[in-house]
Amino acid sequence: MSPFLRSLIARKPIVDILEDRDHPNAMKRALGAGDLVMLAIGAVIGAGIFSAIGTAAAGEILPDGMVVRYGAGPALVFSFILLGGVCALAALCYAELAAMIPQAGSAYSYSYATLGEFVAWIIGWDLMLEYAIGNIAVAVAWGGYFNSLLSAFGLAFPDWATHGYRSVLLSSDPAVHGLMETAPRIMGLPILVNIPAFAIVVAITWLLLRGVRESVRANNIMVVVKLLVLGFFVIVGAIHIDPDNYVPFAPNGWRGIHQGAAIIFFAYIGFDAISTAAEETKNPQRNMPRGILGGLAICTVIYVIVGIVATGLVPYEQLRAADPLTRALQVAGLETASWIVAFGAVVSLTAVLLVFQYGQPRIFYAMARDGLLPRWAAKIHPKTRIPHITTFWTGAIVAVGALFADENEIYDLTNIGTLSAFAIVCVGVLVLRRIDPARPRPFRVPMVWAVTLGGAAACIYVMAGLPVRAWERFGIWMSLGVILYFAYGYRHSKLRRARAGLPPEEE
Ligand code: ALA
Repeated sequence: MSPFLRSLIARKPIVDILEDRDHPNAMKRALGAGDLVMLAIGAVIGAGIFSAIGTAAAGEILPDGMVVRYGAGPALVFSFILLGGVCALAALCYAELAAMIPQAGSAYSYSYATLGEFVAWIIGWDLMLEYAIGNIAVAVAWGGYFNSLLSAFGLAFPDWATHGYRSVLLSSDPAVHGLMETAPRIMGLPILVNIPAFAIVVAITWLLLRGVRESVRANNIMVVVKLLVLGFFVIVGAIHIDPDNYVPFAPNGWRGIHQGAAIIFFAYIGFDAISTAAEETKNPQRNMPRGILGGLAICTVIYVIVGIVATGLVPYEQLRAADPLTRALQVAGLETASWIVAFGAVVSLTAVLLVFQYGQPRIFYAMARDGLLPRWAAKIHPKTRIPHITTFWTGAIVAVGALFADENEIYDLTNIGTLSAFAIVCVGVLVLRRIDPARPRPFRVPMVWAVTLGGAAACIYVMAGLPVRAWERFGIWMSLGVILYFAYGYRHSKLRRARAGLPPEEE
């Protein structure tokens, strides 16, 4: 095999990965099992259940009448159950790897150790879709609920300051699409920006720059609020369910359930995000699997229940809104309850933003430490001991994206990137069992062939439910990633330079 190909599949030895933890530049280990479950719930329950649920149930139609996707209708509950199964397979694989390789880079680090540098880069690039790009959609959803909350006090921003350009362009709602004509203009271009979405990302970034402990404490409080508010929605909603709304139960048959699952997958993203905190976790071998699997199980049960209530409360088409849960309560005449839920959504989405804005810089940090991104990105702040430079840049990228984005478009891109990363992680577990069978595995995937290959196949099946535009954009994103790898990462890779006998670059 040529040296070029060999360097693409060069694997970072796990021993080196574990040594990175003990480097003087390493992070502080402060998190326990309880913190991890709270982080998982903080990351998972958010824009998916509060916002994407509307599109998943009701489908999506462009202004020109083209159907982008079919909705699941009340059968959305099957989409949730299907995804619970798919994610459980991936979660088992994550748990084995996270317990064995507790390192900040999550799936990126696991694949560096299993499938080699090139695949690791691809995964790192995919994870950017999951964390940074995904958070753009969460910020937009946050803005939607924040506006509902303001309206409870009779306050409102002007429409052009709460709708990003893309969301207006793609909206099938004539009132929103009409903003293209009525918004103020600069040099002929309509000013369509989402100021609340931008502002919340700036605020979260500021919080994270203050250091990890404060942020974890804030997360714990927000998780409690989110569970209370969803419990409230379920109880109030259940009393007002109209069984007629369950008919037809599956208006678009299996196609609707499948396509609904492909977008509502967003609601499950995040159980894996806590693996990025492995380097800051006490006893990760025991705590990581508990945090990941426990968090996923709790969230699946909550989703199934919320899905049943939401689609029973109003006819499913009414859920096609930026804030479907408050909309459902309002349509059912429960105004005060809708404000309480809007408040809960704002808090919940803040927690999600926090976890992903926390995770992304740590992946950048791990990649920079390996030389695949510029070394300055791997600096740790001397006082707060967090990767402050990558924290700042993640904030800047997400905040600017949130100003202009369309949620549904971002959900799709995030989902396809995350599902492909999950599929690679599943395969990685199997590969590592073959090439490094003796390494201690504090947690082992049961029935490894069925779980790993079944998990990868299931992720690809869910991906197939996404619209063509998602695949096109994913193709562009991946091509860009490959170009960047060869333009930068390949040349500066610490591992490749060491193997080629080249001197290490300056830290
Ligand atoms: N699962 C997270 C959410 O729904 C990303 O917001």
